[in-house]
Parts: sequence; C-alpha cells; structure tokens
Amino acid sequence: MKIDVLQTSFDRVRVNSSNFAALFYENLFLDYPEVKSLFTNTDIKKQEEKLITALVMIIDNLCNFPYLENLLKNLGERHVKYGVGVTHYEMLGKTLLKTLEYYLGQDWTLEVKYAWQDAYHKITKLMLQGAREQNPWENNFFPYLPSLFEKLRAEAIAQKALREGDSVTLVKEKLMADYYFQNVTEKIGKEKTLKLISHLIDEAMEREDHYNSVKS
Ligand code: HEM
Repeated sequence: MKIDVLQTSFDRVRVNSSNFAALFYENLFLDYPEVKSLFTNTDIKKQEEKLITALVMIIDNLCNFPYLENLLKNLGERHVKYGVGVTHYEMLGKTLLKTLEYYLGQDWTLEVKYAWQDAYHKITKLMLQGAREQNPWENNFFPYLPSLFEKLRAEAIAQKALREGDSVTLVKEKLMADYYFQNVTEKIGKEKTLKLISHLIDEAMEREDHYNSVKS
C-alpha cells in the first residue's frame, strides 16, 4: 500500500472533513438512490461524522496492520446487520473516489487514484472477511445450504441429545452418522460438514437457553 501517498492526499480532506462527508453522501445518494433505503432511520449528520472518524482511524493506522485488520473486520461484521452487501461496497468505493477527485482537483494524479483504488479494495476485502466470519450459514456454506426443514430436524436431534446429557462430541458423532449429513459430507467434505454441524449445535444450544429462560 502506498501509505505516504494516501496520508498526504487525505490531509486535504482532514482540514475540511465535515464538508467532505456531506458531499460524499450527497454524491452517494445522487448516483445510487437505491442505497437511501439503508439509511431510513439514520441521522445523516451523525453518520457523516462517523464515516470521517472511521476514515481517519484507517488512514492513521495504515502502518499498524493488526489493529487495522481487527477494526475493519469488526466494522464489516456490523455492516451485515445494516443490510450492506458486496454491490454496496462497489457503489461506496466509486463515490469515495469521485468525492476525493473533486476535492483534490489537480492533485488527483494517477498515482493518487491507484493508491486509493488499491486501499479501498483492501479495506473492502477485510470488511467482507469480517462479514463472512459473522455469517457462516449464508457465506461459508454457500452454494450448499441445508433447507430450513433439514436444519430444524438436525437441531431437534441435537437438542434432544443435549437434554439427555450427551456431550457435544457425541452429538457431533450422532449427527455425522445421520443420513442427511452423510449426504452433505459427500458434497462438501468432512471438514466443512463438521463445521456446519458445530454451528448447528451452537444455534441449538442458544435456542435451548432461550427456551429455558422463557420457561423459568
Ligand atoms: C470503507 C467502507 C465503510 C466504512 C469505513 C464505513 C463506516 C461506517 C461507520 C463508522 C458506521 C457507524 C456504525 C458502526 O461503527 O458500526 C457505519 C454505519 C453504516 N454504514 Fe458504513 N462504512 C463503510 C461501508 C458502507 C457501505 C458500502 C454501506 C452501504 C452503501 C454502508 C452503510 C452503512 C449503514 C446503513 C450504516 C448504519 C447507519 C445507522 O446507524 O443507521 N457502509 N459505517
């Protein structure tokens, strides 16, 4: 990453950051009106500040990769809840570059443009990685997703076994032997199937805790 190029060009944004953020969202909603629906309950003024704070944190920590990785993965994880998907990242990236271009004027050289393109690409990659880790069902097991029926059936088996005092290891073994998961193993392999089963047991346990707390 061209850290010095990114930091120097960002200095221009820093001195006028609230203005930059306002223009950024104006551009975003003008070019991609469909994105507006994600922000229906959002105070845009506050959101502008949050975006700038995040950009400052990113730019100031380009040399501190472990910190940056953690920050961006967590941010990406939260964005799943905001309904943000891959195509949205592309839109936001184009808007960021467009707004920076407007701001930097003559200083928007090819070198600066490529540095920001590359940085945004890496930022998105880390945020999406965080999002995937948060959403194992939808992402890790795509294109193989169990139907809701199979998911609930397997969960019921897990809950029953746990209630009867089986250890998690034993529940895993029972599910691996189940005809349905034998089929799954053929399609996605043993390792991924075991991962799928682990998530399923976690969810079954969570629901069981919830059930018990409502009952008591
Ligand atoms: C470089 C990429 C991005 C950065 C740095 C960023 C930054 C932020 C920050 C700091 C927040 C405040 C809440 C929090 O920290 O969890 C936030 C919220 C949000 N962002 Fe992003 N974001 C990025 C990408 C996107 C994209 C691609 C979209 C969709 C077009 C998006 C839509 C939203 C929405 C809907 C919220 C919630 C607003 C609310 O509180 O109602 N963000 N973002």
